[in-house]
Amino acid sequence: MRWFAIGFAAILVVGLIALAVARGGEGSGSRANPNDTRMVAQGRLVYSQYCASCHGANLEGQPNWKDELPEGGRPAPPHDASGHTWHHADALLFEIVQKGPESSTLPGYVYRMPAFGDVLTDDEIWAVLAYIKSTWPADIQAAQEEVNRQAR
Ligand code: HEC
Repeated sequence: MRWFAIGFAAILVVGLIALAVARGGEGSGSRANPNDTRMVAQGRLVYSQYCASCHGANLEGQPNWKDELPEGGRPAPPHDASGHTWHHADALLFEIVQKGPESSTLPGYVYRMPAFGDVLTDDEIWAVLAYIKSTWPADIQAAQEEVNRQAR
């Protein structure tokens, strides 16, 4: 009888944890955690290999990024606090990186940046976003977290 009770309690605990994990994932949809040092380290590597050539080694973007180019489109924007990356929720940033020009959420907006869905795994995309987020000062991180909250 006692073993039965212990077994039952164990199943209950596992079930509750699974539920909490599922709820957490559902609530945010984001796996980009700027406080996860391993994820941030992985994201830094992905960034230097795939993003820095356009967005700059220090996330500073390309010069005159707000000005339309003669051939159409705009230079790569910065991802630091001076840009507007932090104005967007994690889920939208993920989609922009994954789908590039096919990104549906900002129609007609992303068109010079290639899609990375075939190049990077989902984990790598979340990691690079975690890295970008980790470079923001606390007030910018808090402001973007508010955008995330409203997007849920
Ligand atoms: C070939 C140059 C290029 C590369 C490489 C590139 N980007 Fe971009 N990115 C751009 C441009 C240009 C824009 C602005 C939208 C457009 O014209 O496509 C942009 C926009 C973005 C945005 C939207 C920013 C905002 O403020 O709305 C995000 C997020 C982003 N890039 C992330 C990345 C990440 C992460 C990588 C690496 C995996 C990457 N980019 C690689 C050129 C590039």
